[in-house]
Amino acid sequence: MADLIESKDITKIYRSRGLAGSKHGFKAVDEVSVNIKKQSIFGLVGESGCGKTTFGRALMYLDPPTSGSVIFDDVPLGSLKPKELRRFRNRMQIVFQDPNSALDPKMSIYNSLSEGMVNLKIPKEQRDRKVNDLINLVGIGKAYLRRFPHELSGGQKQRIVIARALSMDPDFLVLDEPTSNLDVSIQAQIINLLIDLKNEFELTYLFISHDLNLVSYMCDEIAVMFKGRIVEQAETELLISEPSHPYTQKLFSSIPGGAQRIGVKSLNIGELGEKTIREPQKEEKSQAGCSYYSQCPMGDAECSLSAPFLRELSRGHVVSCHKIRTGK
Ligand SMILES: Nc1ncnc2c1ncn2[C@@H]1O[C@H](COP(=O)(O)OP(=O)(O)OP(=O)(O)O)[C@@H](O)[C@H]1O
Ligand SMILES: [Mg+2]
Repeated sequence: MADLIESKDITKIYRSRGLAGSKHGFKAVDEVSVNIKKQSIFGLVGESGCGKTTFGRALMYLDPPTSGSVIFDDVPLGSLKPKELRRFRNRMQIVFQDPNSALDPKMSIYNSLSEGMVNLKIPKEQRDRKVNDLINLVGIGKAYLRRFPHELSGGQKQRIVIARALSMDPDFLVLDEPTSNLDVSIQAQIINLLIDLKNEFELTYLFISHDLNLVSYMCDEIAVMFKGRIVEQAETELLISEPSHPYTQKLFSSIPGGAQRIGVKSLNIGELGEKTIREPQKEEKSQAGCSYYSQCPMGDAECSLSAPFLRELSRGHVVSCHKIRTGK
């Protein structure tokens, strides 16, 4: 299947002024290149603050990248004028983790679902038909159209947010931890709904999550992010059976109930070298070396001096670590 989206060296720098008035730049996303295949689910995992949401927003040009480019269905988003981009962006929608802040408390569910279509000047009759179809599609009764967000449960609100995203007939959804604010019993229902909708409408997803079990279950491919960079990426089965980067291994080994739950075979980080994980030292925070060096059980002088690049370990399996031999 061809790619729907290609990001080329996306970097996002947040600029702020320091106390002394000097300009500081914080690189939240650092030269990330990924290809997301049409009708696939691409997973993005990594610890809090590593840049997942920033990347998702940059990919949609909601918060355009500082450098790098995004090609969406052969269209470079950076080449679009603001008005064209706004229109084009209907093809890309985002679902955040908190449905409470996503819905306007003063808007009825009907108005929330039809708002985007009103902006597109779609005739009322057509809008009404679509709103009815959408609410039905996400498994909520039509009686709810007259209600307001506070009258709905968290799971129902997230269903409405998903329906609203679909009202724009998108090709691509960024799902940014869409179930992490919901009760565990509701999470599976929403995940199943998302999978059904993907199949029915031939959608493509970027699925951002902390939950490795969920990502392993949902995604065709997984990228692991650490401090704004992709450190490993592979098809799901390969990544969980042969996690190679020490950070990926640490992530998968921290799953409650053990890695076996998702079929990870080799996770013995001790086999990789030094067993103790060292506390970061001041001099280790130098920009030159590997960003994982200060926490890495395998790190040595080479790692402190130069940053590794992503290299191919096997077809489609890339990893950035000096200590992993690729045979190339
Ligand atoms: N608007 C902003 N201005 C300045 N810094 C920001 C801004 N938004 C995010 N950051 C910083 O960028 C880094 C990446 O944030 P981001 O929200 O993308 O991480 P994340 O991986 O999505 O985290 P989480 O898992 O907690 O949602 C963090 O250090 C964050 O503090
Ligand atoms: Mg986030």
